[in-house]
Amino acid sequence: MKMIKVQTGGKLYIAGEYAVLTPGQTAIIKNIPIHMTAVVKEARAISLFSDMFDYAVGMTPDSKYALIQQSIMTLFDYLGKSAEEMPAFSLEITGKMERDGKKFGIGSSGSVTVLTLKALSAFYDLNLSADVLFKLASYTLLKLGDNGSMGDIACIAYDDLVAFTSFDRQQVAKWTAEESIQEVLDKDWGYRIERIKPALPCEFLVGWTMQPSISRDMINLVKSAITPEFLAETQKQVLICQKALESADKENVKTSLQNVSDLLLGLSSAIYNDKLLALKAAEDGLDVIAKSSGSGGGDCGIAISFNREDSQVLIKRWQEVGIELLDMEELA
Ligand code: PMV
Ligand code: MG
Repeated sequence: MKMIKVQTGGKLYIAGEYAVLTPGQTAIIKNIPIHMTAVVKEARAISLFSDMFDYAVGMTPDSKYALIQQSIMTLFDYLGKSAEEMPAFSLEITGKMERDGKKFGIGSSGSVTVLTLKALSAFYDLNLSADVLFKLASYTLLKLGDNGSMGDIACIAYDDLVAFTSFDRQQVAKWTAEESIQEVLDKDWGYRIERIKPALPCEFLVGWTMQPSISRDMINLVKSAITPEFLAETQKQVLICQKALESADKENVKTSLQNVSDLLLGLSSAIYNDKLLALKAAEDGLDVIAKSSGSGGGDCGIAISFNREDSQVLIKRWQEVGIELLDMEELA
């Protein structure tokens, strides 16, 4: 019996959040090696199960399984097939990106979308590229009315540290309403996804606030505060940060991340809540730059440390204020 197993990871923003909601803006987003796993097996009828829920479904619409079901429909549409024409399967997804019912906030909805597409691509021997997976997952989320930039999808589909320059989502949504999925997928959407190869020896740390925050609500709360000045200044700092990572320019990594952090602080007081303020303050006196990540208001923050002992001090300070180290890795 045919059986395949694939994984996807999580993601966290390093720089460019909120600005990247505007087409043409760039964000730097890091893949996080905390994984979800999908197992697909031949079956008599489609059966879907995720350990997020305590029941399995088929293709009859179910609100909790909407992401998974819509991803499957996207793939069948893309292949020009109906569900009945394709060999049926059972899909089992495990690896909740959460603990004690509290999500980590590292992109589980993006990850489950890419995971479902990647799993079926493997099951049907389609060999879809990271770029096609990105487009299919974005298409799926746009169909479901997601209000994000799709930067999370870019990072998870490429499973790498990326610089993502966003596309005009309204334009793609318009094409989606008027043209076939194959035609929409063939178009140039105008985004850019670049893999970043950092040359700077440093440690990347993730601090989890244990306070779940909902990106959709944060975006709706903050988006009207975004100004052309915020966009221009953020873009400038993001590009400095990318270049500095690639050219091992420590001072510019630190100053650019401090600057984007200050820009977020000025954008809305909802972003840096008390926990994230404490996560940032823990860098004091250390060779470390810390900031909130993504939409903020909880979830995770990140830090880049240039000194191993300082990393340990930071982790201890985080512990003291109830911030848990979720991931730590060398960037180069
Ligand atoms: O909270 P996160 O990690 O999902 O990041 C959201 C980042 C935003 O720029 C605020 C929204 C987006 O989708 O780009
Ligand atoms: Mg978040």
